[in-house]
Amino acid sequence: MKNRGLFVSGNWKMNNGPQKTEEFFGQLKSKWHDIQPNVKAAVQGGNLRICIFPPAVSLSGALHAAQGLPVEIGAQNAHWEKSGAFTGELSSPILKEIGINTVLVGHSERRQYFGETDETVRKRTESLLEQGMKVIMCIGESRAEREQNQTAAVLTRQLGAVFQDVNKGASRFTSNNNQLVIAYEPVWAIGTGLTATPQQAEETHQIIRKFLSERLGAEAANNMQVLYGGSVNADNAQALMSCPNIDGVLVGGASLKPDGFLGIIQAAGKVLSA
Ligand code: PGA
Repeated sequence: MKNRGLFVSGNWKMNNGPQKTEEFFGQLKSKWHDIQPNVKAAVQGGNLRICIFPPAVSLSGALHAAQGLPVEIGAQNAHWEKSGAFTGELSSPILKEIGINTVLVGHSERRQYFGETDETVRKRTESLLEQGMKVIMCIGESRAEREQNQTAAVLTRQLGAVFQDVNKGASRFTSNNNQLVIAYEPVWAIGTGLTATPQQAEETHQIIRKFLSERLGAEAANNMQVLYGGSVNADNAQALMSCPNIDGVLVGGASLKPDGFLGIIQAAGKVLSA
């Protein structure tokens, strides 16, 4: 029994332009008819949330092509300001104008290659939540940090930056169910084919849950979904999502093709009906 439900999300990164996006959703629609009834029931009952994060130029096309499918479309990043001189950025009003209400924040590739810091992750998360967006906020340690037993310290630092001035039960993070979701993605597992074992992932999710409980209170921590990401595919998704503190997955490579993504959705269905 997964009392927080499950969330299956796909981060396309810099892949799938408008044409491939249309093809993806066309194929997903035709294959959706074969999906297990328990998966459909879970989606309808609100126990399974599904979201895809295409590149910015594919967002409108994705919204259009996904009509009729229970799939949310989200942006891979957004600025904390509502408008202004920020070349290359997107804002929440711009995204809302086309119907996007969900944003990924602080992905490790943004941190690694584009100067994203704990502080800018905090600014984006706080501001986007205030503007009524749903946020999936990413954290995760590097290989060197794990090898030096720094995993808990790194995650605590990353989470602490976002929840720095929060008193227990602070409503801006907890008022709206699932408005904020945490994605734990060990950097060493992203795009490498090296997945954390379910045991490693579960242990780390327990550290995250404990931090959330201390900072936000037990109830908020119990309600918040924490996803795992890093080389998730249709073969390993079920074992990962069966762990008590893993509430879904953030998938890169395996979300680019409808079959791979559907396999992960089916795995979620199996976990929910176990
Ligand atoms: P991957 O990417 O599944 O290709 O490892 C995960 C991610 O970066 O979200």
